[in-house]
Amino acid sequence: MTESIASNEITLELHDIQAGVLRGRPSPYAGTYILFRVDDPKAGREMLRRVLPEISSAAEPTNPAAEAWVSAAVTFRGLKALGVPQASLDSFPEEFQQGMAARAAELGDVGENAPEKWEQPLGSPDVHIALVALAPDAARLNAVLERARTAHRDLPGVAVIWRQDCFALPTEREPFGFKDGISHPAVEGSGIPGTNHKERPIKGGEFVLGYRDELGQIAAMPQPEALGKNGTYVVFRKLHQRVAAFRSYIRANSANLDAEELLAAKMVGRWRSGAPLVLAPDKDDPELGANPARNNNFLFDADGDEKGLKCPIGSHVRRMNPRDGLDFGNVNIRRMIRRGTAYGPLLPEGALEDDGADRGLCFVFIGAHLKRQYEFVQTEWVNNGIFFGAPAETDPLVGPNDKGGQFTIPQEPIRRRLQGLPPFVITRGGEYFFMPGLRALHWLADLTT
Ligand code: HEM
Repeated sequence: MTESIASNEITLELHDIQAGVLRGRPSPYAGTYILFRVDDPKAGREMLRRVLPEISSAAEPTNPAAEAWVSAAVTFRGLKALGVPQASLDSFPEEFQQGMAARAAELGDVGENAPEKWEQPLGSPDVHIALVALAPDAARLNAVLERARTAHRDLPGVAVIWRQDCFALPTEREPFGFKDGISHPAVEGSGIPGTNHKERPIKGGEFVLGYRDELGQIAAMPQPEALGKNGTYVVFRKLHQRVAAFRSYIRANSANLDAEELLAAKMVGRWRSGAPLVLAPDKDDPELGANPARNNNFLFDADGDEKGLKCPIGSHVRRMNPRDGLDFGNVNIRRMIRRGTAYGPLLPEGALEDDGADRGLCFVFIGAHLKRQYEFVQTEWVNNGIFFGAPAETDPLVGPNDKGGQFTIPQEPIRRRLQGLPPFVITRGGEYFFMPGLRALHWLADLTT
């Protein structure tokens, strides 16, 4: 952990990597996800050609006042629909070829999370291309959306099949009320500084194809190299949040308001302000939560919390990134870049009754290895607790708890064990995408098959 983050020299081909992979988003922002079906390969390629000038590269520095950002990504069926040759299609990893709905059993998308219950057309064979547009405000977002509309207006072979508006509040709070988007891995070779000076940057090949990864390997890339290099995979999930159920559960299990806040923080691993429990174990510290130089600058064991007395081992953030607290295995091969974005109206402050509105997060995970990053974390760290010795426990915040969920809070002299956790998060749908580099988008647009 001695390598300095300041020494993160640029070795990745930033000008060829889409900005959405490595660059943080402006804050606040308005955004829209649009899904397209391609019925005619030529029309699909023409649309890509037209949107290409809108897509910025990771070489462009973060600029919160930027007009707008657009990212483009393609599903396996989308690559087929664009006319990508079979030999190239065959070079993609199996889980990507299958798509997210086909992986439901592995991912725990069963019962009310099952693909049969998903919002249409999510998980269907019609999802081919995704465009994501983000801008610091609605006016600038509308301007870029208008240009995107122009890009496919006279192309009957391309249809818009789904649209989801989303936003990031100035407070950066997600619908349960916690500040989100704080912890990201520093990526070696990106030149973009990390936020945890106690962790070394993670090898570029964990997040972008064509570079050495944490195992010292350059992972097999989709072929030809013109398509695979500087690309990555994107996991998209629309996650509905039962905010009233979360608030009611916290209230029913707490003696007073302070105890409610502590219990909520124990489940997440951070206070609502973003302050991590490891650094603020007893009460919220909003100044710490708001300070990007300090709010992610911690480890678990090295900061004296081996037993989870401050931050429970089963809390959401400690499961998702155990940092130095993992007894076996290599945490660095499970890291992901996350770009969560809220959707739907917020539940009014203090309300404990569900108002029936759809609200939650449009979740995006980015990484070069779908199976050993996202799929592993979802199945092993979210959906069960074997890895830290609590097989009966799933993630208290986002796990598939079915009123039988339990959550242990280590404390002395006797631990506290909560029972009867209901599910607070429901999968509304999702898909695996490939986010090509900029040259690769040209390669796709120029196909003549
Ligand atoms: C609606 C569902 C979810 C909500 C409300 C949620 C909320 C949060 C919050 C409040 C944080 C702390 C902020 C931060 O450290 O940046 C966080 C961190 C994180 N979450 Fe989630 N999360 C959700 C689903 C998931 C899922 C499904 C996964 C993975 C499969 C995941 C992976 C992570 C990771 C990797 C971190 C960063 C941990 C760290 O580096 O310390 N989250 N989440």
